[in-house]
Amino acid sequence: MTTILRGNLIHAPALGQLECLPGGYLILEDGVIAALCSRLPEQYQNSPVIDYGDALILQSFADCHLHAPQYPMVGTGMDVTLLDWLQKYAFPTESRFVDGAYARQVYHALARELVDNGTTRVIMFSSLHTDATLILMDELEQAGLWGYVGKVNMDRNGTPQLQETTEESQRETLRWLDACGQFHHIKPILTPRFTPSCTDALMAWLGRTAAERGLYIQSHLSENDREIAWVRELHPDCQRYWESYAKYGLWADHTVMAHCVHSDAQERLAMREANVLCVHCPDSNINVRSGLAPVRTMLNEGNWVALGSDIAGGDHLHMMDVITAAVRTSKLRSLLIDGSEPLTAADGYYLGTTAGHRYFGAGAGFAVGDALHAIVVDDSGIDTMGNMNFTDRLERALYRAKSEQIVAVWAGGKQIK
Ligand code: GUN
Ligand code: FE
Repeated sequence: MTTILRGNLIHAPALGQLECLPGGYLILEDGVIAALCSRLPEQYQNSPVIDYGDALILQSFADCHLHAPQYPMVGTGMDVTLLDWLQKYAFPTESRFVDGAYARQVYHALARELVDNGTTRVIMFSSLHTDATLILMDELEQAGLWGYVGKVNMDRNGTPQLQETTEESQRETLRWLDACGQFHHIKPILTPRFTPSCTDALMAWLGRTAAERGLYIQSHLSENDREIAWVRELHPDCQRYWESYAKYGLWADHTVMAHCVHSDAQERLAMREANVLCVHCPDSNINVRSGLAPVRTMLNEGNWVALGSDIAGGDHLHMMDVITAAVRTSKLRSLLIDGSEPLTAADGYYLGTTAGHRYFGAGAGFAVGDALHAIVVDDSGIDTMGNMNFTDRLERALYRAKSEQIVAVWAGGKQIK
């Protein structure tokens, strides 16, 4: 079936590069992009067009790191740094997801808010609870979202309410994986919480399971100074944090590592060599005072970097806010640390869209052959100057648009808002 969307198309085929088609057409065949054009080709003259008028048609967002069971505590618990924050706030909040009815209610609301804000792909942590994780996957799938979700593995350094034995962790992971076949666009990803949360035996088992079943892996890396020192104590044979994952086969193509605030040149090289995705989470890095990540350096060196809200270390679920936070944080880094070139709004838009969608095998920008992931932004309510060019309108939308301005959302070729 042919569907045609018309509006002001703005997409990011490469870092720092925007392509605009004012009054352009997106031609979809069964939800897949068949063509982008400035004028409607002859053969489509009689096809119905969904005309979005003067609105912007943008790429939707990919949130590549967030913790679903921390959603209830968003915007609270900002007074301590990472390791204390985990014990004082994050672990007690996650422990409530032993209750399936509670999980259903929270995850339904989370899925709705993601859609409302134009996030259509996610790479997400659940909690250690198998049943709540399946409820989360079900809610995301029903909302029309696409993504990877991980039941968290943690068999040490948790709390009495939030920790598994090694044997439980393995058994529950297998039970969870067996139940994941029911989902079509939400897939499992193995999720050792971070090195201090997992015994060597569990890490080794997860590495073997990933290899045997062809599963991707997500975790945290070099987020905070105390955390890094702790990993050094736990793994004195490892020169750097990343080696504590590599040692057990958890450092592989498409491994996702959140933060990488303090990753040095060697660790960044190891990411490039393995095709590891680094997820930058600017709000979280400031809220729990982890630091200012060297994003420009990583990009210059050729690292693969995308963005995450890191709810609830991060306080903004709306990826437009995460994008502008990344721009702002890069300026702080430049001012206070290394004079590096700050990110532009176009850079941020690329990191929040194309760089993350690539994890799912998508091409760059609105690529022919990809199922459509797009949002429609009606910026008339925030357009007070008139006569703005399209790159200015994109930048202002990123800084000023709220979910109300996102009047339509397309995911996997289907309209979900
Ligand atoms: N490291 C281990 N667990 C977490 C978490 O829940 N949030 C963040 N930001 N870092 C972590
Ligand atoms: Fe995190």
